[in-house]
Amino acid sequence: MEAADILITAPLPPFLYEPLKQAYRCHDYSQATDKPALLRDIGREIRGLVQGGGTVTPTELLDALPALEIISVFGVGYDGVPTDYCKRRGIKVTNTPDVLTDDVADVAVALILMTARGFVRANRFVHAGEWLKRSPELGTKLGGRTVGILGLGRIGKAIAQRVQAMQMEVVYTGRKPQDVPYRYVPDLDALARAADFLVVACPGGAATRHLVDARVLSALGSDGTLINIARGSIVDEDALVRALQAKTLRAAGLDVFDNEPNIPAALLAMDNVVLLPHVGSATRETRQAMGDLCKANLDRWFSERSVLTLIPELN
Ligand code: NDP
Ligand code: DGY
Repeated sequence: MEAADILITAPLPPFLYEPLKQAYRCHDYSQATDKPALLRDIGREIRGLVQGGGTVTPTELLDALPALEIISVFGVGYDGVPTDYCKRRGIKVTNTPDVLTDDVADVAVALILMTARGFVRANRFVHAGEWLKRSPELGTKLGGRTVGILGLGRIGKAIAQRVQAMQMEVVYTGRKPQDVPYRYVPDLDALARAADFLVVACPGGAATRHLVDARVLSALGSDGTLINIARGSIVDEDALVRALQAKTLRAAGLDVFDNEPNIPAALLAMDNVVLLPHVGSATRETRQAMGDLCKANLDRWFSERSVLTLIPELN
């Protein structure tokens, strides 16, 4: 069978890009200096598209790809994919769930630990030779505290298991209660009021944009900490900065931001904020597994017209 033409719209790691180039005719849209020319030359031939979890795919780009059959997302989040449009055109959309769940949950726990126990400051303290001069600061005990999870999906559940093992209580919200041993709180304000740590683990996109707003942050309160490992768009970043500046929120641990890699200067300057560069799934093992799954979805489609992971909206 002749190799299909694939459009690559995000920078890909070599362990995914090289095998893709061996199996398909790949066209690097993300690095192309003249993108309109690339689309004019090859747009009508493109049958597959590979993008990152955070890549936004405009419908105008898809309009220029009339033969497109499948979008394979290298990531679990597909908030950048216009799913209604894909449904109308019958374009399959696949992602890389499950293989990254544990790593992302580990990062959420790390952010809880770092914000509560001050490990980032403690590390700086030792490196600066301060321990020779004075005692380190005291942190906050985690056992007995409550973690409120917004979005108890694959990652949310893995976070719940981990913090439960740390003797923390778990409460959660989502669009509906689930058959799980944790208390469901239908209202996000009430969840924030009940929680010491509010952990954001739901998908991004229009439905969840700024779900965590000034009101929710105020409900979380001056002893509360916000942890976000999902998408920056879910949190109103201006409201977050204001709450931290006014000390109506104790701390924040953030792996994701609204306009990555740009982070508000005010957040960069704060000592009670732990900032990570979107590294939830960034281990060699997991990124390899994500790459393998991203390619396997394309391979399965072009050989058998089926896929391994189809996102729920397109089921
Ligand atoms: P899942 O689909 O398994 O879980 C998402 C959960 O969110 C579901 O339990 C769902 O529950 C809930 N949810 C969906 N919509 C809403 C809504 N409008 N309001 C409240 N809750 C909602 O996804 P994963 O756990 O695999 O991944 C979650 C997100 O984490 C991804 O979408 C991605 O954006 C992000 N992510 C970030 C990474 C990083 O590097 N930091 C890495 C991987 C993922 P219900 O249906 O009951 O509402
Ligand atoms: C994901 O898998 O959604 C991560 O955020 C990487 O984009």
